[in-house]
Amino acid sequence: MIRRQMGRGGPEVNAIGLGCMGMSAAYGEPMETNEAVKLLHAALDRGVDHFDTAELYGFGANETLLGEAFHDRREKAFIATKFGPIGNLAERTVRGVDGSEANMRRAIEQSLRLLRTDYVDLYYLHRKDPSRPIEETVEAMAKLVQEGRVRAIGLSEVNAETLRRAQAVHPIAAVQWEYSIFTRDVEAEVLPLCWDTGVTLVAYSPLGRGMLTGAFTRDRRPEGQDYRAVVSPRFQGEAYEANLQLVEELGRVAEARGATPSQVALAWVLASKPNVVTIPGTTKLANLEANLKAADVTLTSEEMARLDGLADKVKGTRYDERGMTLVNA
Ligand code: ATR
Repeated sequence: MIRRQMGRGGPEVNAIGLGCMGMSAAYGEPMETNEAVKLLHAALDRGVDHFDTAELYGFGANETLLGEAFHDRREKAFIATKFGPIGNLAERTVRGVDGSEANMRRAIEQSLRLLRTDYVDLYYLHRKDPSRPIEETVEAMAKLVQEGRVRAIGLSEVNAETLRRAQAVHPIAAVQWEYSIFTRDVEAEVLPLCWDTGVTLVAYSPLGRGMLTGAFTRDRRPEGQDYRAVVSPRFQGEAYEANLQLVEELGRVAEARGATPSQVALAWVLASKPNVVTIPGTTKLANLEANLKAADVTLTSEEMARLDGLADKVKGTRYDERGMTLVNA
């Protein structure tokens, strides 16, 4: 088990946390409540203590699950949630991003109610509001810290300049970015800035939304209403075929050292810098247990070098066109 700090002076968490989105949204049918609560409890029993959710994930459904699971053991879980994207519950679509104080206050009240708690450990702006200076949103978030509703502030998918401007207003404990063997943009500026300024980098989609687990093949693709089947550019057509070939190299590295592709993918992320923690998503206890064993995998420089070359060859952007306008922002 590897423990890492969440922000300068912040609490330590297991470096392998749990991304909870897939339990309620995006990847096909949501989990049944009892099953999800059982999985969340099992995760806690196995030393996972960092749970990542958002208002957006199932428009409240995911926070409701975490509330059900943790309301009677609140202090054992480090709960991170997010606000910003505004959606329509009936249509299940996202209309835009609202980083205003009014929207933040509406969102935090709802999050606390659904999570059945009076504080969140880490409150993120999920995406920067393109129509508003970051200072305005962070000033509002700082009030929640003063009021005791929020223990620390995080930002998601911000660029280095936005992070610097935010830091001038209030300490930022964590920055969340997509980071994996397939997605390394964060390494250019944001990760070094986080390292220099004591910010924890929370790596989401470390398994490339499942692509780096080896679970998908030419014959076994995401289907139905699964976000990857419908939207995700890396899972479409020729890009999918090309990316699967890259996964084969990961498979060879994993096989040679008797680990699974997922374990190697997670070990690669954790090897990047000691201020990185990660939140792989899963709906299955067996996968969660296997992922935790990634903490025991130390990659050699030769293995790292084989994997380092893959990101440049990946086909397709990580989000569709609209989604790409809201990242690295
Ligand atoms: P996200 O951040 O979007 O959740 P991710 O963490 O990169 O993305 O990948 C999540 C995907 O990897 C999920 O589809 C998950 O499927 P299960 O719910 O079936 O587990 C899959 N996944 C996670 N760990 C896995 C493992 N050890 N083996 C196979 N698939 C795994």
